[in-house]
Order: sequence, then C-alpha cells, then structure tokens
Amino acid sequence: MLEGKNVNLRILEKEDLPLLAEWFNKPEVFGEYNPLHQMSRTEVEKIFEGPHEEKIFIVEKKDGSKIGFITHFYVLHVACRQLEIGYSLLPNERGKGYCSEAVKIMVDYLFLSKNTGRIQAQTDPRNIASQKVLEKVGFKKEGILRRSFFTRGEWRDAYVYSILREEWKEPKILTRTEKK
Ligand SMILES: CC(C)(COP(=O)(O)OP(=O)(O)OC[C@H]1O[C@@H](n2cnc3c(N)ncnc32)[C@H](O)[C@@H]1OP(=O)(O)O)[C@@H](O)C(=O)NCCC(=O)NCCS
Repeated sequence: MLEGKNVNLRILEKEDLPLLAEWFNKPEVFGEYNPLHQMSRTEVEKIFEGPHEEKIFIVEKKDGSKIGFITHFYVLHVACRQLEIGYSLLPNERGKGYCSEAVKIMVDYLFLSKNTGRIQAQTDPRNIASQKVLEKVGFKKEGILRRSFFTRGEWRDAYVYSILREEWKEPKILTRTEKK
C-alpha cells in the first residue's frame, strides 16, 4: 500500500476486476476526453499480460472507499523503460484534490522503484482538470501529438507532459526510508 494524507494507492487484486470492468465500461468514469470503448472482463485481465506491463492501482480514501484508479505502463517496450501514467476518478470524487495527491504518490513511487529518467502523461488539450493536476505535480508540457487517437467520431490531439528525475529531485509524499 502506498500511503498518502487523504488517499492511498493499492495495487489491483483479482477481486477488484469486476469493479474495474464496471468502471471501464462506464463512459462517465473515463470522462469525455478519454477513448470511448467497452471491454469484457477477460480483456481487462489481459491488460496485465501485454508487452507494456500495465500496472493498475485503486485509489482509496482513508475509509477504504474506492474512488478511482491510476495506472503506469511502458510507452514502447519494457526494454525502453519509458513510463507513462493514466488516471480517472469517479465523477462525484473529482475536484477535491485526490487526483493531484494520487499522481504525487505515483511519481514518488516510480522514481523510487524504477530506474527511469522520465515519466510522461498524455491529455486532451481541452482537459483542463488533468493539465492542472500534472502541472501541480511538476510535469511540464512538451508538445502536441497531432491526431493522436480516434474517439467519439473524431480525431483528437494530445498534449504530452513529462517530469524528469532531476526535476522531481526528492519524494514529496513517500519516503526513502521506512517510517519507524
Ligand atoms: C482529470 C481528473 C482525474 C482530475 O481529478 P481531480 O481529483 O478532480 O483533480 P484535483 O481535485 O486534484 O484538481 C486538480 C485541479 O483541476 C481543477 N479542476 C477540476 N475540475 C476542473 C474542470 N472541470 N475544469 C477546470 N479545472 C478543473 C481543480 O480546481 C484543481 O485546481 P486547483 O488546485 O487550482 O483548484 C478527473 O477530472 C477525472 O477523473 N476526469 C475524467 C477522466 C480523465 O479525464 N482522466 C485524465 C485523462 S488524461
């Protein structure tokens, strides 16, 4: 468990798969700026087996309630060690600072546990909430991927944001040593 002040990140367990599949199939959970797609439970399970080794964490409040998820995966092949993150919260849990905290924890975790120089995220240029989250955590906008993905009947561009290890400098929420 990765512990923050208001939220914890807990690695996805098999028992969470029905809930995750339910969230993945609800367009309102992914929001209007993410690809609109439907996935069976079997397809959701297969995410873990692909060459990009996606890992999913459930975002939980301190009372244990599950309010969304945050993932990390390798952009190209695992061997390239180029990491990307993605996240979504349930609509009624947005705007409370939970995602900014979850991303801070994830960035700490990835730089503390993986030998990687950068972490990136992509977001629709109209997704102001997501851009604010990334900027609050110290990500910088690198550029735009034109016609990055097709969804809801149109091609969408994507901003690419990243944070480098030297910009992160040190953990903000997690610690390098175990708490006593
Ligand atoms: C993007 C998302 C995860 C942000 O989560 P969140 O918990 O609301 O984020 P935070 O509460 O940490 O807020 C971050 C900032 O965005 C602002 N914000 C939230 N919703 C906003 C909106 N609709 N428009 C403009 N700003 C918004 C908040 O006020 C906050 O800014 P502040 O700290 O200056 O006040 C959430 O909106 C979501 O799940 N959206 C649907 C899925 C999605 O788009 N995922 C990201 C794909 S790249």
